[in-house]
Parts: sequence; C-alpha cells; structure tokens
Amino acid sequence: MTPFDYDFLRSLLKQRSGLDLSADKQYLVESRLLPLARKAGLPGIAELVLKMKGGGAEALTKEVVEAMTTNETFFFRDKIPFDHLRETILPAMLQSRASRKSLRIWSAACSTGQEPYSIAMCLKERAQALSGWRVEIVATDLSQEVLEKSRAGIYSQFEVQRGLPIQLLVKYFTQIGELWQINSEIRGMVQHKQLNLLQDFSHLGKFDVIFCRNVLIYFDQETKINTFDRVAKLMEPDGMLMLGAAESVVGITNAFRPYPDRRGLYQPNPDRGGARAPLLKVVAAR
Ligand SMILES: C[S@@+](CC[C@H](N)C(=O)[O-])C[C@H]1O[C@@H](n2cnc3c(N)ncnc32)[C@H](O)[C@@H]1O
Repeated sequence: MTPFDYDFLRSLLKQRSGLDLSADKQYLVESRLLPLARKAGLPGIAELVLKMKGGGAEALTKEVVEAMTTNETFFFRDKIPFDHLRETILPAMLQSRASRKSLRIWSAACSTGQEPYSIAMCLKERAQALSGWRVEIVATDLSQEVLEKSRAGIYSQFEVQRGLPIQLLVKYFTQIGELWQINSEIRGMVQHKQLNLLQDFSHLGKFDVIFCRNVLIYFDQETKINTFDRVAKLMEPDGMLMLGAAESVVGITNAFRPYPDRRGLYQPNPDRGGARAPLLKVVAAR
C-alpha cells in the first residue's frame, strides 16, 4: 500500500468512525481490507481506494469502515463492571427510582450483544426487586453486521464458554445444534439501534446508566472529550457511567467524576456547572 493510500484510509476512518490509526498500522489495514477488496472483485488495496475516491461507492465505503472496527467482546467481560452493576448501581437505582419505577440503560457500543445481554441477565436475576418496573436496555453500535448478530442472540460454543457462568447458560439459553440462542425473554429486554457515536445521539433520551466500554479507546483525545460531553448531557444527574478497563476520564474531561472506590464507574460532575457559574456572575457585575 502506498503512503498516499494509507493516508486516505486513515483520514476516512477517523472521519467516519473516530478510529485514530497511528502511522504504523499498515499491516492491520492490509489484513482487514485485502479480503474485502478481493470479495469486491478488486485485485488490491490501491484499487479499493481508487474506487472509493471515484465516488458512488458508499456501500463499499461502509463495508471498509465496518471491517476496520474491532468487535472483540464476551459475556460479563472483565467481571468487575457487572459486580458494580449488581452491588452498587442496581441497589442505588432501586432506591432512588423507587417512586417512578423506571430504569433506562444504554450499551453504547454493544458489538455482538454479549454486553447488553449480560446486563439483561443481571436485571433478570433481580426480577423480584424490579417487579412492576419499566426497564429499557438500548443497545447501539456503528456496525450493522454486529447488530444483526446481537439481535439474533445466537452464539457458538466458544462464545458461550467465554465469561458466561454455566448456570446462566442453562437458565437463559436454548441449544440449537452446535449453537446457543439466548431466550426470547432476555432478547426482548434489549432494543437495538444502529448509531455512530460521532453523530448526534440526543434523540435517544435520558439514561440512568450508560455502559460505554472499549470504544472510546480507539478515538483521539478531541473526539473523546466531545463524546464524553454529549454522553454527560444524556445522563440523569445521579446517573452512572461504566467505562472499559483501560479507559478513564482522568486528564480528559471534567464532565464526569470517579465514583468512590468503584474502578471504572463514574457520575456526572455536579461541580462542572458550578465552575461556570462564577464566570457568569463576573460578566453580569460589569
Ligand atoms: C471492542 S467492541 C466493545 C464491545 C463491548 N462494549 C465490550 O466492551 O465488550 C467496540 C465496538 O465499538 C463499535 N464502534 C466503533 N466505532 C464506533 C462509533 N464511532 N460509534 C459506535 N460504535 C462504534 C464497533 O463496531 C465495536 O462493535
């Protein structure tokens, strides 16, 4: 691949998905896009780039963007976020939302569904406490392909062996040949929508809990700040944000503050609005 082709692909991916590729990732781009080029009947990356530059290749461009996303996920990934959900988030929400009896949760880059279904199973395990509640889990992703798999809720033996406790497999899944499908009751708890985090998502409405894990890690600093700001606007003041194990708001934004003693868990920062207030007072006094 020529440096010009690589530069074109880098800026296309940054603009379309936020993916911030460093200068030395040609091998990654080649390994993911060469099969796609061949599938499209093109001999190589150069021809793929030429076709996209020529315009009128929107479907192919979308395929390129999707092929470059990393969709790695598994049930109850990293365990701790789901311990926080069971032991900290749910008890707090059950108390603070006791009168309105509703709970909205967003899995903001849901990939093939293991994250929103892990959340759904945690809630189902608390069915008695949540009886009479309106519970919504909204699962979104940029990629149509992963969303289709998530909607179907069908997983291989390998996938259900990664992180899913055997008692939950037996309780919530049905075996279909060599595959396992999550039960319709759990599937029905999750609404799927295609959504690019770079674009406006204010139409989703307010959420009590947001899982935004292992996606911001691929964005540059400016895109992270911008996304955090817009996520904060979608949260209830006492809402909770769960980030991935390698992600943090520290040094990036003050839109959120860490929840004490709960790694990866954050809340909207009430001081943020307060920090702006004195400035307004000074302006008004002049
Ligand atoms: C590594 S997976 C994380 C899945 C899950 N949250 C987890 O932690 O296991 C990252 C997901 O982010 C999605 N993604 C990448 N860029 C995105 C964007 N700009 N908007 C929405 N989703 C995006 C990818 O399609 C992929 O499914």
